[in-house]
Amino acid sequence: MSVITNIADLKRLHKKRTPKMFYDYCESGSWTEQTFRENVSDFEKIRLRQRIAVDMTGRTTASKMVGQDVAMPVALAPVGLTGMQRADGEIKAAIAAAKFGVPFTLSTMSICSIEDVAEHSDTPFWFQVYTLKDDDFMRRLMDRAKDANCSALVITLDLQIMGQRHKDLKNGLSAPPKLTPASIANMMTKAQWGLEMLGTKRRFFGNIVGHAAGVTDPASLTSWTAEAFDPSLDWERIAQLRRMWDGPVILKGILDAEDAKMAANVGADAIVVSNHGGRQLDGALSSIRMLPQIMDAVGDKIEVHLDSGIRSGQDVLKALALGATGTYIGRAFVHGLGADGERGVTKALEVIHKELDTTMALCGRRSAADLDADVLLVPKDFYGDWA
Ligand SMILES: Cc1cc2nc3c(=O)[nH]c(=O)nc-3n(C[C@H](O)[C@H](O)[C@H](O)COP(=O)(O)O)c2cc1C
Repeated sequence: MSVITNIADLKRLHKKRTPKMFYDYCESGSWTEQTFRENVSDFEKIRLRQRIAVDMTGRTTASKMVGQDVAMPVALAPVGLTGMQRADGEIKAAIAAAKFGVPFTLSTMSICSIEDVAEHSDTPFWFQVYTLKDDDFMRRLMDRAKDANCSALVITLDLQIMGQRHKDLKNGLSAPPKLTPASIANMMTKAQWGLEMLGTKRRFFGNIVGHAAGVTDPASLTSWTAEAFDPSLDWERIAQLRRMWDGPVILKGILDAEDAKMAANVGADAIVVSNHGGRQLDGALSSIRMLPQIMDAVGDKIEVHLDSGIRSGQDVLKALALGATGTYIGRAFVHGLGADGERGVTKALEVIHKELDTTMALCGRRSAADLDADVLLVPKDFYGDWA
């Protein structure tokens, strides 16, 4: 592998080594992609305060997320179809996260099943559920996650219906990929990806095929996913789901202070301030811009985490300084996986850790858990004057 110094290097290799359909699935947002772009560009607007002559020995990035020790407060976000970016992708990412000491979150829409991931990594991981209409299937999914020793449940709330990503429609995204002259021609240029895929049996949605009623093959799965998400979701249902899980519950996809208050009321342990990485409501503001008002509303009642737009350890530091106690990376770890499998995910985590640690030191701080807004320079008009 060439010398990798940042997440952008991994992204370039991911693009080179992975079929276009799956790279595009990762590197896109809904509609005009405004929110997808601003998630990243808003982090860039915040600057840092350089401080000197502060003893920087004995620094630590270690912290806790929902009461669990983490080497740095950066979890791997749930990402569907991770096992299509690289064969057995969820297993590889879970192993890399466990070795590094950060949580891995398995998506409902993963290729490797809950049981498969649990079999390959002895460290408990987190499980993400979508709110689905099929109550029986949901109950079984949560039971399976319990049996697999999952140590937190992440309930994603911002996908009652799917945002549209133009590229996925144009590419005919599917798992396994549909064989068309264009997709075959493209896959022929991704030899290592193809060889590894031929060597695995994990090419379908492992949590669903054979588990959801009537889904026994990929063709029936397509109609299942179109029908499965529950558009009637409300706070009563969320409270019910919270009660069904005996352990930490994290509500993901909160972008509004009023919703954050509701989340605290239903007894969640943490929320994730998130716009799904700009993949759902295009035109929503970035997570980092919305964080301070959500902190004001619930920061003293519930743990507040953040994702969407994190591409460096400096971004992690900015989120922590504005009050988040945990963060998640989605695309940043997928770029690592697509670039070099488990080693690539480890590299992504190393890059982010080094950036976080060095930035912390140069800002005159010794502990990631003690960061505050004093280390930041935020432009006066950053939050905007929205009516
Ligand atoms: C390719 C892709 C697939 C995703 N699939 C899921 C999913 O299955 N469940 C979920 O809750 N979020 C999903 N997300 C959203 C991520 O969990 C996370 O919110 C987002 O990636 C954070 O933004 P970032 O990629 O800029 O770090 C997905 C994101 C990407 C990029």
